[in-house]
Amino acid sequence: MRTTRIVEMLEVTEAAALAAGRWMGRGDKHAADKAAVEAMRSAFNHLDISGEIVIGEGERDKAPMLYIGEKVGAGGEEIDIAVDPLEGTNLTAYGQSNSLAVLAFGPKGTLLNAPDTYMYKVATGPLAAGTVHVDATPAENVAAVAKALGRPAGDIVVCILDRERHTDLIAEVREAGARIRLISDGDVFGAVATAIEGTGIHLYLGVGAAPEGVLAAAAMRCIGGEFMGRFRFRNDEERARAERMADCDIDGVLDMDCLVATDDAAFIATGVTDGELLRGVKYFGKGSRTHSVAMDASTGTVRFIETVYKTGAEPFWVRRD
Ligand code: FBP
Repeated sequence: MRTTRIVEMLEVTEAAALAAGRWMGRGDKHAADKAAVEAMRSAFNHLDISGEIVIGEGERDKAPMLYIGEKVGAGGEEIDIAVDPLEGTNLTAYGQSNSLAVLAFGPKGTLLNAPDTYMYKVATGPLAAGTVHVDATPAENVAAVAKALGRPAGDIVVCILDRERHTDLIAEVREAGARIRLISDGDVFGAVATAIEGTGIHLYLGVGAAPEGVLAAAAMRCIGGEFMGRFRFRNDEERARAERMADCDIDGVLDMDCLVATDDAAFIATGVTDGELLRGVKYFGKGSRTHSVAMDASTGTVRFIETVYKTGAEPFWVRRD
């Protein structure tokens, strides 16, 4: 993907994070999400793209903005866009770590149109890529990552969403001898963190939202990590929706080629609240500062970018209105 396009898109997640960050700790996750969505949409519409939202805030009847199928941009290159303007709405509302403004994009027709159902996910970084599998047991996956990293299982940290549905999974990971980082929300962070040195997370396991799975897979495609999933439908209606939307075997393994079918994808995230991966938005009177990661699958480049917006010097998505 062209670097200039990635930088333009970086400003889109920065816009969402700057808007959502104002709601940190204010106890209103809907207001935080709305602020992120509005800012992200406005920023998109200033870009010379013909973008289609393939992963968004929901289906058209449920989401007023950034709904699946919505066209964004002022016209130009045709691209598929996956967004989560505020990944971890509760994390922001309660001032907890690792909420992010996230997007991924690629040429038209390359990102899986995943319905808002659940997905069992396994993710790990480049060193252990190719050794884990969504159908392997937790113990097998822990052992595979430990072997690939040349460490005992006790050195491996598995990130898991803290949910009742994971009681057995957590017990099995403990039994396998690994340590666990339980998170209350935000599994895009959990999956991507496995590929970033210094986060202290080596493997992600568990059931989370399917759209977030596509976003995480895009990041892993860029960075050379591994991501695999399987849909977990809760009812026939979800299954029917998946049949309508997703261009893949909905009962099969969702590997990276099916989730993100291109080597020309990009993934960008801007921190909203502080975390192990990114620092959150800082406002300091004379301006504000954001911290982002931008990944490009075509070159394998991973950029960490800090941006300072001076108060009064309005960013482009305001200026061009
Ligand atoms: P929101 O950002 O929409 O609040 O949700 C974040 C999240 O924690 C995701 O990261 C995760 O995939 C999903 O919710 C898990 O869903 P559930 O809360 O239903 O277990």
